[in-house]
Amino acid sequence: MKENNYVSDLAELAAWRDALAVEGKRVVLTNGCFDLLHAGHVRYLKEARALGDALVVAVNADASVRALKGEGRPVHSAEDRAEILCALRAVDRVVVFDQARVTGVIEELRPQVYAKGGDYTVESLNDEERAALQEVGAEICILSLLEGRSTSETLKKLAVTDGGAASLPKLGVLGSGKGSNLAAIFEKIDAGELQAEVAVVISDVPDAGILDLARERGIQAIWIDPCGEKRGRLSDAAIKEITDRLRAAGVELVVLAGFMKIVRGGLLQQYTGRMINIHPSLLPKHKGLGAWKQALVAGDQEAGCTVHWVSEGVDTGEILGQARVPILEGDTAETLHARIQKQEHQLYARVIGELLDQ
Ligand code: GAR
Repeated sequence: MKENNYVSDLAELAAWRDALAVEGKRVVLTNGCFDLLHAGHVRYLKEARALGDALVVAVNADASVRALKGEGRPVHSAEDRAEILCALRAVDRVVVFDQARVTGVIEELRPQVYAKGGDYTVESLNDEERAALQEVGAEICILSLLEGRSTSETLKKLAVTDGGAASLPKLGVLGSGKGSNLAAIFEKIDAGELQAEVAVVISDVPDAGILDLARERGIQAIWIDPCGEKRGRLSDAAIKEITDRLRAAGVELVVLAGFMKIVRGGLLQQYTGRMINIHPSLLPKHKGLGAWKQALVAGDQEAGCTVHWVSEGVDTGEILGQARVPILEGDTAETLHARIQKQEHQLYARVIGELLDQ
């Protein structure tokens, strides 16, 4: 059975090394932080072990990891890192050192081999450590590292998957149509250009494409019956239900993406200053329905889209951003709307990002 020990006494380590030397065995020393162990570490340690007959890992104490890697590191304490390393088949002894350099361990242990990861060269080793290695006659071996495996990479992945998602700002999207603006928001999130999570999508139209888009991603997709109210209006019950659903989903910013109902009452009160809308015109021009058609009928030279805070009126509220679209000869309502929508898809995510301070 392998003897696996966490050693705190360097003199004891030196005695063990001498006993091995009598048997003609070579001790390999390596050192590092070994925080959040990954396959790169494991492979490296196996290779280091293969350079001799026993492997000693000197682990940086917590203060020196903090000094090297910054606040918030190490993730695991020196005791935990040592315990985990001790459990690896390739590792024979683990020692924690609390100086900035591993020189003291080199001098005491006098390893026959010293292994270091491939981000170093013999020249880039610290002068003091290199001198100590030469003094004890250790052979220096630089081992290659496994691409893409590092504790920092692991931490980055954690920041964008489950653990990190909990801390992403939550959006609630309301729409009545096909949801091309929502699709554009998803694209920006997937591309890492927008750090947000769509927590819930709500529609007043039962078969709206926007609900399907949410369902495809496993996001809550809720149809709320506008309760037979006339066009443009939501019943009080519908207003309450939407407000409750947004609150229950922990929504921080409400994004209206083609929501063809007037927002009022408790919903507006609850989310004033936290609810935005996109409208297909250069507001304050052409409020209301079919804004791009209004621009054509008016004989405008240009159209565009506007993102604004939602306020009491229809398509009113402070303007947060606009994009301009020239009206071309021969433009139809369809061609113009399609070009405006292309701009909407860029503008909306950009403004959301700015509001979320990204
Ligand atoms: C968008 O063009 C948006 O500007 C408009 O509805 C469309 C929804 O498209 N909104 C308004 O007219 C609001 N007054 P989408 O469902 O493909 O995102």
